[in-house]
This record gives sequence, structure tokens and C-alpha cells, in this order.
Amino acid sequence: MEPKPRISAATHPITLQSIREQAERATSILAQARGHMLAPDSRKTPPLFSATQLSDRLGLERSQYEYRVRNPAGLPTGRLNATGARREFTLAEMRQWAQHYRQDHLRPKGAEAITISTAHFKGGSSKTTTASTLAQGLGMRGHKVLVIDVDPQGSMTTLFGYLPAAEVDVEQTLLPLFSGDEIDLQYAVRSTYWDGVDLVPASSALFSAEFILPTRQLKEKSFQFWRTLDFGLDTLRTTYDVIICDTPPSLSFLTVNALMASDGIVMPLPPNNLDFASSAQFWDLFKDLADDFAERGAGKDFAFINVLLSKVKYAAPKDNTGQSTAIIREWIQAAYAERVLPVEIPDVEAVRTASKEFGTVYDASRDNVSTRTFKSAFEAYDRFVDLIEQQMETFWLRQIGG
Ligand SMILES: Nc1ncnc2c1ncn2[C@@H]1O[C@H](COP(=O)(O)OP(=O)(O)OP(=O)(O)O)[C@@H](O)[C@H]1O
Ligand SMILES: [Mg+2]
Repeated sequence: MEPKPRISAATHPITLQSIREQAERATSILAQARGHMLAPDSRKTPPLFSATQLSDRLGLERSQYEYRVRNPAGLPTGRLNATGARREFTLAEMRQWAQHYRQDHLRPKGAEAITISTAHFKGGSSKTTTASTLAQGLGMRGHKVLVIDVDPQGSMTTLFGYLPAAEVDVEQTLLPLFSGDEIDLQYAVRSTYWDGVDLVPASSALFSAEFILPTRQLKEKSFQFWRTLDFGLDTLRTTYDVIICDTPPSLSFLTVNALMASDGIVMPLPPNNLDFASSAQFWDLFKDLADDFAERGAGKDFAFINVLLSKVKYAAPKDNTGQSTAIIREWIQAAYAERVLPVEIPDVEAVRTASKEFGTVYDASRDNVSTRTFKSAFEAYDRFVDLIEQQMETFWLRQIGG
């Protein structure tokens, strides 16, 4: 057998200078890769929707749909596909139908946007996938959505079609708000390929907020570092119906800002030991923080806190994985009780593949949505979006005293 190659520690110390060179090399390679990724034909586009998808999404009877296509009364009627056999609608067209037929579910007059954050200590628990899919799903249902990337990793920025390193200047992130150069987040809003969803992007430079916020707090006694984002959203709350924040895997200054600006929190929780343990730590630390804020006279309550079972692996009953998942699911139920949403997102290859292609299940075109596992993920996300929308409706009704 051939001996396996061995490696040893560097013969010379790795100096900061060589790290600098390594960083420059990586940035230069990224710039080349970026040129390729930003080719005009690689720009993201939303899929087209069939008549059945449109009707299902909006809860229309087939007869209602057919009547409306014959008597559009201002609604777009899509167009026949290349073979002339099927009618197809763009996302923007579907949104127009949604705004016509789903008025009862949309933000009522006099109510303001609801802000929702996905949060968890644990990396990879599907915070970004959950936040992005939720934003797309609510957009399809006719809501006007603002997504805020609060994570310097910029994953949500990428999912919404922008490369953080190439297309996001630090002035276009949350940073100027946190540094005090801006007080209204409007400056950072840009549109995305997904009609109905605008974005405040992130890039790695946003990480310096972790130093800027505590420094400002030390200098300005009356400064409330935890409410900077909340205040920055004030004017946007009358422009949008929903504001969705994706947070980093920590309870950092950035995450605390998102949580304190939020009316609802969704914690995606894969049912395994480590994720469950970090979820308990997260709430424990959050409780301490909340106590600290309360002592400083800053009260806070939430309209909802949801635990979403995510990346759930199903195995044969005899399989150990299946058994341990069942036990952890019991712990989760015992710990979070009514906060656990009555839906589970299965761990399926389709979601992983979609994210490798910088998208979610809602980005998939009709041609590759027919497998059973894909459908299971798709239907679970639809149900999840429904459950969030129902809570949004009660939030708005309470706001306007209904
Ligand atoms: N339902 C699912 N089935 C299979 N893979 C999934 C599912 N949901 C998410 N993933 C995969 O898990 C990985 C982590 O997901 P995601 O980036 O959403 O997690 P995150 O909590 O935002 O991570 P981070 O803590 O780094 O921000 C991704 O590769 C994603 O494709
Ligand atoms: Mg993430």
C-alpha cells in the first residue's frame, strides 16, 4: 500500500504579511469567478407559473380563473407557452392577481409592516433558507416584502441575486445606520429579481458593527444600541407589509438589533441533540439580555415566537436515526409547547440542490418540481408561509383594534 502523504507545520512562521498576500490572492480569484458568475445570462429570474399553480396559490376555483381570463377587468391574462397548450403567468402578473383576490389577507389600511426575524445560535440550522423562502412565499401571495440581511456572511444577499463581495459597498449595508451616519434605512434598499421583494444587502464589512455599536454605547450614554435597527425601520413600516431579517448564528449586537426590531421570531430547529442544546442556550442568554434591557427601562414583547422543525430526516422506524429524532422531537415539544409550528420541513436533496444553485424551492421551474421529495418540501414551505401569514393577519387586526 502506498504511504499516505504527510504534511507538517510551515517551515517558516506564517506572518501577517503572508496572510495579507493570501487574502489578496483569494480576492483576485473571486473577482475572476465573479466575472463569470455575473455574465448577463447568469442573472437570476423567477420561474413562470401555470394556470393551476396560479389558482392553487390564490385559492381560486378553476371556474373563477377561467371566467377571469375571459373577462380580465384589468388583470393580466398571461400568455400561451411555445406549444400553445398552456397559459403561463409571470411572478409580477401573479402578484396582481393575488392583490385582487387575496385582499382579506393583506395588510389593512392603518396597520404597519410586521417585522419577523429568523434566529438561532447554531450555524446551518436553515435560518437563511427559511427567511428567504418565507419572503418569496409572501411576495407570491401579494405582500410587499423587505428582506434585511443582518448577517455579514451575506448568504441571503446572494440568494436574492447579488454577490456581496462584488456588488455590495459597505455604505449600502446596515453599517451607516449602526455608525450613526444614517438614521433612516431607506438609503440601503434595492430591488431584487423577485417581484415584490426588496433587499437591504450585507457584506463581510458589516461585521465591524460588532465593534461600532458597543463603542457608541460607551461614548453616548443615552444611546440604545439594541434599538438602532428598530428606529431605522420607522419610515419603511408604512411602505412595506412585511420586513424579514436573517441573522447570523450568534446572539451578537447585530442579532440583538434584529430581534429587538421584530414582532415575530422564527427559530428553525433541526431535531438533533446539538441544535436542541443550542436552542436552550439561545433562549437562556436572550432572557438575560431582555432582563438587562428591562432594567434600563426598555420593555419588549412579541406577537409570536415560532419554533420550526427544519431539516427533519425521516428514517425507517427500526433505524436509530428515526428513534433519536422521535425522542428529540418529544423534548422540543416539551420545551417549546405551543410555540412549535404544526409543520415540519423535511431534509431533502431538492432544498440542498436549490441552495447550491443560489435559490430556494420556489425558484425551481415547473419542469423539475415533479419528484415526490421535492413536492414534500414545497408543500411544507407553503404550509409554513400560510401559518406565518395567519399570525400576520391577527397582528394587523390587533394593531388597528379589530
Ligand atoms: N430542508 C432542507 N433540506 C436539505 N438541506 C437543507 C434544508 N434546509 C437547509 N438546507 C441546507 O442546509 C445548509 C444551511 O442552510 P442555511 O444557510 O439556510 O442555514 P443558516 O442557519 O442560515 O446557516 P448560517 O448559520 O451559516 O447562517 C444549506 O446548505 C442548505 O441548503
Ligand atoms: Mg444564514
